[in-house]
Amino acid sequence: MDTLLDKAKQNMISKGFLDVESSEKLDYVKEIEKLKKEKNAVILAHYYQEDAIQDIADFVGDSLALAQEAAKTDADIIVFAGVHFMAETAKILNPDKKVLLPDLKAGCSLADSCPPADFKAFIEAHPDHKVVTYINCSAEIKTLSDVVCTSGNAVKIIESFPKDQKLIFAPDKNLGDYLNKETGRDMLLWDGACMVHEAFSIEKLLDIHKEHPDAEIIAHPESPSHILKTASFIGSTAGLLKYARESKKEKFIVATEAGILHEMISQVPNKILIPAPAEEDNTCACSECAYMKLNTMKKLYNCMKYELPDIEVDKELAEKALLPIERMLALS
Ligand code: 13P
Ligand code: SF4
Repeated sequence: MDTLLDKAKQNMISKGFLDVESSEKLDYVKEIEKLKKEKNAVILAHYYQEDAIQDIADFVGDSLALAQEAAKTDADIIVFAGVHFMAETAKILNPDKKVLLPDLKAGCSLADSCPPADFKAFIEAHPDHKVVTYINCSAEIKTLSDVVCTSGNAVKIIESFPKDQKLIFAPDKNLGDYLNKETGRDMLLWDGACMVHEAFSIEKLLDIHKEHPDAEIIAHPESPSHILKTASFIGSTAGLLKYARESKKEKFIVATEAGILHEMISQVPNKILIPAPAEEDNTCACSECAYMKLNTMKKLYNCMKYELPDIEVDKELAEKALLPIERMLALS
């Protein structure tokens, strides 16, 4: 039976005041493991999550693998250690399951850069175009899309359309520009961007490369074209990991969010990994997504204990948003 304090905490969490102070000294690893079993919960984590969260997750992956995992889980509760659009996608795929996000404020600059009303007007101004959207967008934007994609399957998804089919791609202009070059298309691009990948400094990157000429630059396609031009390999987070694993090279400069280094180090412990530097970088030698890093072990524990905050998506909206997600999963 919940105490009054428990109820007050639940209320605070549901209103988004998430950082519930706990006076107890808790072993979060032990407690979270216990809650996982008790509640038949699965923790899905993105590679950009803090190390401890990746370590305790049942599955760590890129956006595509996480959506695929969410689509097939038989857990009663999905705990999404990632950002809001990821948890929302998991909820759309599992309307009858509880989907928890440790911090509701874990958003995404890319998703925020595409307001539904403006995007609707953009689509209406180009009625002969089909709409491909990057999964980093809201459910409302997904309802306006013909198909969703991730950086892991975007080329395949775009190539599923006839060559002469006019396309709109949103919200990431950098990924869209990269995909236009890769596929030889001329997609109309929405003007959105990821603040983390936009922040890489080309001058500092070239300086580091000069110091380490034997290193290969590998980059996420959310990076701007001046960064991508320097890269020997461009891929999703899972793609970058695979490349670092399979390449004969011993040294890489990694242009994506620094959280990936945790998994990369464990997959290639004998290789040298250098995080690509950001423009404004006073705290560390790398780029971090402030949204991804809002999730902490404490918030993960609290959200599992109180089963809040949980993601809610309007039924009609979810049904419409499901179609382009299912199309993506079928094509992947
Ligand atoms: P992927 O994991 O699909 O490469 O996406 C990176 C990202 O920015 C997620 O927000
Ligand atoms: Fe969004 Fe960029 Fe953070 Fe990914 S890294 S969640 S795209 S802001």
